[in-house]
Amino acid sequence: MAPSIADLPPVKKDEPSYPFYYPIFDTEERFTPIEKFEHTDPGSRADPAKPHLLGPNTTTNDISPYLGTEIIGVQISQLSPEGLDELGLLAAERKVLVFRDQDFKDLGADRQIEIAKHFGPIHQHPTSGNVKGYPQFHVVYRDAEHDRFREYIGDRANRTSWHSDVSYELQPPGATFFFVLDNPAPGAGGDTLFTSQAEAYKRLSPEFQKRLEGLRAVHSGVAQAEFSKKRGGPVRRDPVEHEHPVVRVHPVTGEKALYVNPNFTRRIVGFKTEESEYLLKFLYDHIAKGADFQIRATYKPGTVVVWDNRLTVHSASGDFDQSIRRHAIRLTPQAEAPIAG
Ligand SMILES: [Fe+2]
Repeated sequence: MAPSIADLPPVKKDEPSYPFYYPIFDTEERFTPIEKFEHTDPGSRADPAKPHLLGPNTTTNDISPYLGTEIIGVQISQLSPEGLDELGLLAAERKVLVFRDQDFKDLGADRQIEIAKHFGPIHQHPTSGNVKGYPQFHVVYRDAEHDRFREYIGDRANRTSWHSDVSYELQPPGATFFFVLDNPAPGAGGDTLFTSQAEAYKRLSPEFQKRLEGLRAVHSGVAQAEFSKKRGGPVRRDPVEHEHPVVRVHPVTGEKALYVNPNFTRRIVGFKTEESEYLLKFLYDHIAKGADFQIRATYKPGTVVVWDNRLTVHSASGDFDQSIRRHAIRLTPQAEAPIAG
């Protein structure tokens, strides 16, 4: 059982607001390999009208035509199982949901996990910071002294890093939860950038779409594990590589989406090296340049963002002052093995 916020020592000015979630990197921690499981997507049970999610006091503001909706007047913690099913469906339809004014960060670890678990078993990250006793929490943390993000980006000229979370797993995540504990003030940076991989696919010509059909690509967790090892961090599970279709189909909406990303996709199966590099470079450029099918999710105190990792790629925006603390938590339910489109 997690301590309630009231049990924790008072927070000093220079400490995180939620010290319980301060990341730990225990190099002794080991996980067993992830086992295969049956996944029925909660969205498949949802009433398309979403009466348990969107009430008379709900305001929805679309952020762009292709993806992103801000939702005001829904409290995720109060949703029934039917309401959570409908949230899953809406996340698939709109790709990214930005819920404002949530009490989520104060629910305590057990309840937070219980809600996210509705969407699938929670992924336990092999290398990222987690919380003692709660390996389900993927902790995102930067402050003046700790800037792993900057280390990861290295000396690149921009800090954009498009990816779908842990796409190297056999059953990568679907609906994914992200809530902020400490964040730069609105306008001071730290937004999350999202691209619709469904729209990225739709923009391609029918002839090009046909060429992608049936292709598979290798996604790898090896480089992430090596990066962690090199800097003295944990590798809690041996890194894995899996083949996934280059175009996947959403199990509920039937929508097709590109499923490659520069962080984890390594090569096209059956292609010669140059062919694979050529095709992946084109797809990565297409994704990165698609400013007309991208959004920024902004954060305010109490914001929870839910995105469908099957239909989007995202990137942190490393645009805020290094002295500002940013502390956020991701809960990453795993879903089905990607279905070929
Ligand atoms: Fe991510």
